[in-house]
Amino acid sequence: MTEDTFGRYLVAVIGAGPAGLFASRLLAMNDVHVVLLNRDIIPGGLAEYGIYYDKYKMKEGLRKQFQQILDLPAIDYFGNVKVGETGDFRLPELRAMGFQALLVTVGAQGTKWLGLPGENLVGVYHAKDLVFHYNLLPPFSTQAVRIGRRAALVGAGNVMLDIAHWLIREMKVDEVISVVRRGPNEVKFSKEELKAVVHNLDLAKLFAEVERARPVADAVGQNVDEAKDYILSTLPKGLDPVSKTGFYLDFLASPSRILGNEQGYVNGLEIEDTTLVCSEGEVQAKRLSTRRILDVDTVVFCIGDKVDESFGLPVRRNAFVKNPNPLHPMEGLSFEAFDPDLNRPIDRVFVAGWSREASSGLVGLARKDGENGARAVLDYLQSAPRLVEPKSILDEFKEKLEKLNQPIVNKSDLQKLVDAELVEAEKSGLPAYKFATNDEMLAVMGLKQPIAG
Ligand SMILES: Cc1cc2nc3c(=O)[nH]c(=O)nc-3n(C[C@H](O)[C@H](O)[C@H](O)COP(=O)(O)OP(=O)(O)OC[C@H]3O[C@@H](n4cnc5c(N)ncnc54)[C@H](O)[C@@H]3O)c2cc1C
Ligand SMILES: NC(=O)c1ccc[n+]([C@@H]2O[C@H](COP(=O)([O-])OP(=O)(O)OC[C@H]3O[C@@H](n4cnc5c(N)ncnc54)[C@H](OP(=O)(O)O)[C@@H]3O)[C@@H](O)[C@H]2O)c1
Repeated sequence: MTEDTFGRYLVAVIGAGPAGLFASRLLAMNDVHVVLLNRDIIPGGLAEYGIYYDKYKMKEGLRKQFQQILDLPAIDYFGNVKVGETGDFRLPELRAMGFQALLVTVGAQGTKWLGLPGENLVGVYHAKDLVFHYNLLPPFSTQAVRIGRRAALVGAGNVMLDIAHWLIREMKVDEVISVVRRGPNEVKFSKEELKAVVHNLDLAKLFAEVERARPVADAVGQNVDEAKDYILSTLPKGLDPVSKTGFYLDFLASPSRILGNEQGYVNGLEIEDTTLVCSEGEVQAKRLSTRRILDVDTVVFCIGDKVDESFGLPVRRNAFVKNPNPLHPMEGLSFEAFDPDLNRPIDRVFVAGWSREASSGLVGLARKDGENGARAVLDYLQSAPRLVEPKSILDEFKEKLEKLNQPIVNKSDLQKLVDAELVEAEKSGLPAYKFATNDEMLAVMGLKQPIAG
């Protein structure tokens, strides 16, 4: 690319998940040169490391779209680069280097714990520990996980079902209990995801649970038969079971304590009964003080995520704080980072995707949010001071990258990795292959000495 064809503007997009990638494309198509920085070596974020690994067709389709985006000459990709207070570059440093705007699309990397006694016992996980483990994201890929025979999964969303899928069809545990703080009408999972495990569902227990919840649901105007039909309608399309795992939904139950044995291993989950109350136009769970114990040896919190609080932006309600009175709103939403203590927007910093609203929606929504974030940035750039030599700022940035003294992954390196994965997939007869460690990936890209042995 010559000086003449180099974009008029220079923007850093931080995080190459669906939000960051689609935002980068829109920016690149509008006279912006994009520097896309990604913590992981491989782009794609949760599309690569969240979506269940056997959805080969969906994942392959997304990878192709991401590749087309990265093929755009106006996008420079730098993987294995972490931004943030504990990262390789802090936000103020990037701003000072001359990037006209920073669009933060780093997803929701923090862990939402409830602060219950016993959360540190062996056998307690947050869903992302397991999702990243089975989807082979380093370093989670090589971390040992200890899955017992009976697991309680707190939550009733699609992530709960992904974990149930893995425990039931891969780990083949004895029991999986989804602990749902509200009633049958508030499950958040989709029928599509239920198909994988619906034939393991204990229907007698389901019917009993629905009847137990009926008077409570009636009192807030809910019809539990509709909820029952929603679940049962999946049965004809359900996959044949491959294990004898019993799958149960335990409604109106909120976790209060995790019990452990003397060796520090989980041996129970105490749950508190709840009832439903209408408050502020919503049906909410209200704890009653009666408790019971579930006999489990594994507890997984599938309750959504929050953003990384050490990133360097203020956090509220699990996401980075947005300007309540945005200067560049898109579809009525704010994409501008905001400092509530100083009561002012954070200069030239924008947020989108799960960083703007944690654990919300599918890839399509992250794409839309990223694109709207890019539109907000473009709107801002209309009135931003012109850069005299955007390319020289990029060159200086590249020099700083070199000085980091760590392998930086660019687009041509990624192509080598894709080629090596194809070779491995063919060798092993698998539909897809992934290297489980950064060292292996860096070695096949020629960025690190191959590991001996
Ligand atoms: C378990 C699970 C399964 C899912 N399954 C599906 C599904 O089947 N279908 C579907 O449509 N949607 C699914 N989703 C939802 C979908 O994955 C998300 O909507 C989407 O990926 C969010 O996109 P994002 O770009 O905002 O964040 P992410 O996808 O999380 O991407 C964030 C990116 O930022 C990078 N990053 C993080 N921190 C830093 C940092 N400090 N510096 C630099 N880079 C950083 C990461 O490396 C990553 O590439 C699933 C989600 C989960 C959790
Ligand atoms: N295959 C797919 O398509 C797929 C797979 C995975 C994820 N996703 C998407 O990714 C997004 C995130 O999914 P998710 O499952 O993490 O979130 P989710 O759909 O919001 O579900 C979270 C669950 O956790 C419960 N919960 C939250 N806080 C709790 C607490 N303090 N105590 C007890 N329970 C609590 C919620 O209950 P309440 O309802 O009572 O709050 C809810 O049942 C969703 O949009 C989902 O559709 C899609």
